[in-house]
Amino acid sequence: MPKLIAFDAYGTLLDVYSMGVLAENLFPGHGQSLTVLWRDRQIEYTRLITMSDPTGSTHYQSFWDLTIAALRFSCKRLALPLNQDQEVQLMEQYAKLSAFPECQSTLRQIKQAGIATAVLSNGNQAMLSRALQANQLDTLLDKVISVDEVRQFKVSPASYGLLASHFACAPKDILFVSSNAWDVIGAGWFGLTTFWVNRQNLPFEEIGPKPTYTGANLNDVLATLPA
Ligand code: LAC
Repeated sequence: MPKLIAFDAYGTLLDVYSMGVLAENLFPGHGQSLTVLWRDRQIEYTRLITMSDPTGSTHYQSFWDLTIAALRFSCKRLALPLNQDQEVQLMEQYAKLSAFPECQSTLRQIKQAGIATAVLSNGNQAMLSRALQANQLDTLLDKVISVDEVRQFKVSPASYGLLASHFACAPKDILFVSSNAWDVIGAGWFGLTTFWVNRQNLPFEEIGPKPTYTGANLNDVLATLPA
């Protein structure tokens, strides 16, 4: 039985691809490609920064700022003219991204089982608080932890180490849940027990430790707990 179940936020609790509808309204025919490139660049920027600046003292920027930078780049790359008003609209929606429908019931049942709940995210505290509150998930989480504390993005070991230090438990007693395969690999390398949410029936990556558990959505996390 894990002592803590910790969730990644963007992509795992919050549906980053729900941005596609607004993106499609603003740039007909390009909604999906914009959303995919935007997400890829956002994560690419986190890696670029943390690899070149492992202490976080020189190049670190918040995830919110990197999300704006990634949006601007992606629009330029796709030759989509992004004006100030469209940027504000997209970022306002990003600030209150929709959660996947089963989030609330899964978190509630984990708490009823007497297990602590947390988020560990690249997102900075302000953006996490706003999105989690917008989906009424904040009250179901014991802690919302941002890598901002160590100024190193996932998959830096220090980022996953925040869970063990905040909850004073051994890495193996923490079940870390993410829909991002790379995040599952990073957490597995750190020594956490992992659950991969594979909503789209994708193949797992060809490097790194396989997830301890895999499921199709967050409800399946409950099936890993002893009855
Ligand atoms: C997060 C990103 C990786 O929430 O989705 O940490």
